[in-house]
Amino acid sequence: EDHAQPWKIPPIVQELAAGVQEPPSRYVVRDQDRPAAAAAAAMPEPIPIVDLSRLSAAEDGEVAKLRCALQNWGLFLAVGHGMEPGLLAEMVQVTRGFFNLPIEEKQKYSNLVNGEEFRFEGYGNDVVLSEDQILDWCDRLYLIVEPESRVVGSLWPARPPAFGAVLREYTAGCRRIAGVVLASLARLLGLREGRFVGMMSEGVARTHARFNYYPRCPRPDLVLGLKPHSDASVIIVVLIDDAVGGLQVQKPNDGAGGGVWYDVPIVPNALLVNVGDAIEIMSNGFFRSPVHRAVANAERDRVSLAMFYTLDPEKEIEPLPEMVDEKRPRRYGKTTTKDYLAVLFERFARGARAMDTVK
Ligand code: SIN
Ligand code: FE2
Repeated sequence: EDHAQPWKIPPIVQELAAGVQEPPSRYVVRDQDRPAAAAAAAMPEPIPIVDLSRLSAAEDGEVAKLRCALQNWGLFLAVGHGMEPGLLAEMVQVTRGFFNLPIEEKQKYSNLVNGEEFRFEGYGNDVVLSEDQILDWCDRLYLIVEPESRVVGSLWPARPPAFGAVLREYTAGCRRIAGVVLASLARLLGLREGRFVGMMSEGVARTHARFNYYPRCPRPDLVLGLKPHSDASVIIVVLIDDAVGGLQVQKPNDGAGGGVWYDVPIVPNALLVNVGDAIEIMSNGFFRSPVHRAVANAERDRVSLAMFYTLDPEKEIEPLPEMVDEKRPRRYGKTTTKDYLAVLFERFARGARAMDTVK
């Protein structure tokens, strides 16, 4: 059946990019979605830089900064996160090392089983659900990194040789970050400090790593690296290649009236942390999950690595009872991570938001 529908199997963008002067029409976004249609706006206020070592000591000033960051942006740049600059650099280096391998080597980890049946994990592109879906200027590798019992070792790249060891060390560092952030989120909401940490502990939660590779694009004004979306997970920790910007975000309650894109600045050795749709739902809208996108670049290729902290696929997500009262009636319905992710990928493919389906 899939052989009659070749559009379901898009080319690897890196391969495509090596040979074209113009992006093919399947990658060209609608006029109003073009990044050049609106140059990124000047920031009404900077995205805060939060020191996690101060946050874990519950210093008032830092907690206030976190509150402000999450209410204004839904994200912040984390420093004092305990990971050495050398480890972050190595993580970027092995990520680049993987994407720079010959295509035959990368295809050993393909997300198309037998070259046709799509699965979530592995190397390739996001699922293509219709012939007119606009494709992103991006290749990716998805891996489950936690819990250990869910790790599919055969999908972890054997090259570069340090890939696995660096990823494990980086994963452990990110878990410590997630712990500090989740405890602080609970405190900000007036919940028990362990409320989210408990839900996200080993065995009841999953961590997915998404490695993005954005090849150089001869016409970055016509395409998007990643279409606008918000993330489904509880929280997300993103490592961004120091040299190249490209991540843009909208403000959840933008005074400018919405739809304005702001460039996320590059701060060397900082990690970006954002809340996802699951926190928006559980906090009953107290925190909002930011809509973001990635733009392409004509001069340089770019990599990023997003770590998604997600509840157990079967666990229900709904506003926490502590977050609902007469003054703040329940704003969201109930879903599960598994169902929500299915909706998210389907909506993402059409350029729509999954969040609207639980309101
Ligand atoms: C994303 O997390 O959606 C993209 C991150 C990036 O490439 O900057
Ligand atoms: Fe994202």
